[in-house]
Amino acid sequence: MSDDVVAIRPEAPGDEEAIDGVVREAFIRQFGSDSEVGLVRTLRSRGELVPELTLVATIDGHIVGFIAFSEVTLDGERAGGLGLAPVAVAPDRQGLGIGGALIRAGLERATDTGWRFVVLLGHDHYYPRFGFAPAAPAGVQGDYGEGASWMARPLGDHELVPGHVRYCSAFRD
Ligand SMILES: CC(C)(COP(=O)(O)OP(=O)(O)OC[C@H]1O[C@@H](n2cnc3c(N)ncnc32)[C@H](O)[C@@H]1OP(=O)(O)O)[C@@H](O)C(=O)NCCC(=O)NCCS
Repeated sequence: MSDDVVAIRPEAPGDEEAIDGVVREAFIRQFGSDSEVGLVRTLRSRGELVPELTLVATIDGHIVGFIAFSEVTLDGERAGGLGLAPVAVAPDRQGLGIGGALIRAGLERATDTGWRFVVLLGHDHYYPRFGFAPAAPAGVQGDYGEGASWMARPLGDHELVPGHVRYCSAFRD
């Protein structure tokens, strides 16, 4: 973590444009596309973000990081499952532990509020440090193939339950 004090709190009305800016910069830099900005907007406008788990990281009151969680279904049923996406840190603040702090804070809050598991599609050398492992060997299927980047982790005392995970509508249309 840098010397700057990083604070983490749920997103609040008025944060939207600053969040868009962080997500845009991070994803354009990494992937050359800012389509995740539209995804975040759609998630929010459809009420598909889990508000208490959708967090911003701030330094001196300025938003430098963002993480979102939305509910997923398992074999078409609600099962206490979450999708982690997206997570973004402003490019000039990356590599300082802010992304990790957001992920840990989100997982801790999700555990404390009774959620059972989290899935994501992400870098397979980054997320294992947060307890994620490839999901397909555990029987957790999704719409993103069975590669190592499709990952899951149980929360609290829960175990992963095999089945087909489906993300909320903002990810599909
Ligand atoms: C991924 C991301 C959120 C991590 O945030 P961060 O604050 O830089 O992360 P931390 O400082 O906590 O951790 C740094 C680690 O993340 C790794 N990392 C960061 N970006 C990475 C990437 N694109 N691919 C692989 N690893 C990455 C670094 O290699 C570093 O690993 P190390 O600790 O083994 O050296 C941030 O880099 C980002 O916004 N990237 C662009 C958007 C993105 O790819 N989001 C994830 C997909 S949803």
